Amino acid sequence: MEWTKEQRYRTMEDVSEDEIQALAKTVNQCPWRQSFHIQPVTGLLNDPNGFSYFNGEYHLFYQWFPLGPVHGLKHWYHTKSKDLVHWENVGMAIEPSNEFDRHGAYSGSGIEHDGKLYLMYTGNTRDEYWNRHPYQCLAVMNRDGSIVKMDTPVIAEVPSGYTDHFRDPKVWKNGDLFYSVIGAQRKNETGSVVLYRSRDLIDWQFAGEVKTGLGEEFGYMWECPDYFEMNGQGVFLFSPQGLIAKGDHYQNIYQSGYVIGSPIDLENNELDHGDFHELDRGFDFYAPQTTVDHQGRRILVGWMGLPEIDYPTDSNGWAHCLTLPRELKIKDGKLIQQPVPELNLLHGKMVEISRSVENENVRLDNFEGDVYELLAEFSDSNAREFGVELRVGENEKTVIKYDAVEKKVVFDRTSSGESFAEEFGAIRKCTMDNAEKISFRIFVDVSSVEVFVNDGVEVFTGRIFPDKNSNGISVFARGGHTNVKAVKWNIN
Ligand code: FRU
Repeated sequence: MEWTKEQRYRTMEDVSEDEIQALAKTVNQCPWRQSFHIQPVTGLLNDPNGFSYFNGEYHLFYQWFPLGPVHGLKHWYHTKSKDLVHWENVGMAIEPSNEFDRHGAYSGSGIEHDGKLYLMYTGNTRDEYWNRHPYQCLAVMNRDGSIVKMDTPVIAEVPSGYTDHFRDPKVWKNGDLFYSVIGAQRKNETGSVVLYRSRDLIDWQFAGEVKTGLGEEFGYMWECPDYFEMNGQGVFLFSPQGLIAKGDHYQNIYQSGYVIGSPIDLENNELDHGDFHELDRGFDFYAPQTTVDHQGRRILVGWMGLPEIDYPTDSNGWAHCLTLPRELKIKDGKLIQQPVPELNLLHGKMVEISRSVENENVRLDNFEGDVYELLAEFSDSNAREFGVELRVGENEKTVIKYDAVEKKVVFDRTSSGESFAEEFGAIRKCTMDNAEKISFRIFVDVSSVEVFVNDGVEVFTGRIFPDKNSNGISVFARGGHTNVKAVKWNIN
């Protein structure tokens, strides 16, 4: 169904309770509703926003279009959790309501200040010719959870030299000052990020463009920037649009990744850094955001989806979910991503097996399911390739394997079920040298797979849409043998 502009920009005031109920009914009939991921009650979810630990709880908001599986008038939806695993749907958090955000409360971040949670976000507006004008706005959440929007924007103008693609403020504090990075497109239509500073989160001064080593040839827009320091190093995360696919890299419509270097020089806006790395080597991952919690952990959540792609759940009136929270660490100049240990709270019944597999595909008898965690460790392999098959049915399977000839980890969703995004291919690969041992820690939900390879050295995330009866799990080796130790926990 084509959505008109009018349909996409209706305000919730014009929507009846009956209409919402009817949509919720369609959504709840969808066979691909997730079981332990954050997903919208109705409509479309995109970027994680305002991720923070505040007042004894984790708060995680997301971009939300309530009325259907399309990008329209964006709101902030609020979820919260005490343990990063069990999330409560709190409800609408920021609703577009004034002349500074009337076409959408776009992405932004949260930071605690004076006992309150400050939410800085982009107010999207369009004029009568549909030209954009972005404002950077502020809303403040009190300890009782009430959210009050400021009447006027805190940054009203796009700095000179940049287009109206100016959005997604991410705020952090250094000493007495707050800093914000904001995604910006230069007038020559190349991507960049600019820096602002403030004493009070209200009065912001433009500090200039962040000088990176990526120059002017790294995509046409950088969305959702994020900056933090860890082990005395500076990590800059962003989602560049317009990178050209190269080898196994940049295979999705848009990418998300990071560079690591010395801490940003806040006097000169300079960031000295190494190569750009993709955060996720799978299919459905974009616009991640991090926060630091009360234990000092740096935690990342991403949008498990991409813009401009139709998904099979669209016909049921909803789209997308968030990824599981991942704890970040730096090792050998790269980010390691591990599912937060709290996810063990989800563990139900366990089964395990240890065996050798040689030129065969073995269906594991007691290892069925559509919602579980699986840890598969392979050792002493001389096989050409080996791995696991998930969600196996008569004509379906999702394959996670190691190709020892190419020395690559492969995620193959060619036969996963209902296909989508086919123009971007159904196989993702990434090089993994020194693979004495290969381990896949895999979280399977009703319609997604997240694979943490070798303790988080690489991660592959992908939505899959199999038949509900495709529940088998197999291990295989071709052209030789491997030893596999597999443990599976049901997730209830
Ligand atoms: C990234 C993005 C952001 C924007 C938001 C709008 O997916 O395009 O740049 O703030 O989504 O929903």
